[in-house]
Amino acid sequence: MPSYSPALTAALAAIDEDAFVRRTDGTLVAQSSSQQIIADLINRLDLQPGMTVLEIGTGTGYSTALLAHLAGAEGHIVSVDVVTELVDRARTLLPAHGYPNTTVLRADGVQGAPEHGPFDRIIAWATAPHLPAAWITQLAFNGVIVAPIALAPISKSGIGTRIRLTDDTTPYIDQLFPAGFVEMHGQELDQWLIPPYGIDVACRDDTGRASWLSSPWLRSPEQYLQGQHLLDNLATKRREISGPLEPGEPAADFRAWLLTTQPDGLTTAALGDPTWRIGHAHPTGAALTDTRTATTMITAGDPDAIDVLLTWTTRWRDTGRPGLADFGANLTAFHDGWTVSAGVD
Ligand SMILES: C[S@@+](CC[C@H](N)C(=O)[O-])C[C@H]1O[C@@H](n2cnc3c(N)ncnc32)[C@H](O)[C@@H]1O
Repeated sequence: MPSYSPALTAALAAIDEDAFVRRTDGTLVAQSSSQQIIADLINRLDLQPGMTVLEIGTGTGYSTALLAHLAGAEGHIVSVDVVTELVDRARTLLPAHGYPNTTVLRADGVQGAPEHGPFDRIIAWATAPHLPAAWITQLAFNGVIVAPIALAPISKSGIGTRIRLTDDTTPYIDQLFPAGFVEMHGQELDQWLIPPYGIDVACRDDTGRASWLSSPWLRSPEQYLQGQHLLDNLATKRREISGPLEPGEPAADFRAWLLTTQPDGLTTAALGDPTWRIGHAHPTGAALTDTRTATTMITAGDPDAIDVLLTWTTRWRDTGRPGLADFGANLTAFHDGWTVSAGVD
């Protein structure tokens, strides 16, 4: 078991996970994250007794219970979710399991919870497209945010960030770490196969399996039609070849480097199965690899798309295979918050 703070270890031992993640008929609540992922993010939050916390993405309420345990009777957790049924469920479960120090609201977490701040800590379980201004406005002096935030303007580009505010206005990032969560959505989702953010072309086959592509070059009317044709080719005329990585090379670092450098034509995708892919696509060809091992590519159309992905791989290897641990991160202000960028220090 990874090592967590003594207080978090005690909270994990004290709370019955099943009471939150399972419904009364024994089925799992769809919006559960694994205990290890939840503990990893909470461990980074440095939550102390007596603190006030904003949680974005109540889900099962399990993470809310852990936060409430750590904050103690003098602390308070305000937790928001866009799914009314989950909000109602958590409002009943949390006090029944000894956590009256919680307020659960139906709200879009991008706005925070302005009437309930300021918050000593903010934690999110869904990927924000950028760091929202509202979170910083509602964060107390010396506050900490732990949240997945998109590194690129494409779907499935989230990484974990820890953000600190040590003066009144200027937040900074002091940690980057892997974190794959659903993108934030302002409304309840009615399907799970197509992500709620950054999808440029999408289709479903006869059995309902979804395929999609996400890339800035697809965002013009002419390119959109070519993108649809390309997606159709990937679904019906695809080839599978090995590469771009050798077994054992760090695929998570390669993905992080691609998202950080954002070379022209960087594209994310899913192609009829639950595997997220990343690689190169242009109007007449694509080469996309899985994000877990990156040892097989799915390709269609122009073979030069494969060459592009292999060239990127050579550049990554030549610079020493950097990954999240090697990157420093920056926040750049824009009208509604800050965008996150990263690079080798
Ligand atoms: C991974 S799940 C929940 C994780 C949770 N802490 C758990 O394991 O029980 C993410 C949750 O974020 C919620 N969510 C997504 N976008 C949101 C938004 N804009 N505001 C608030 N909640 C959001 C989803 O409805 C979902 O319940």
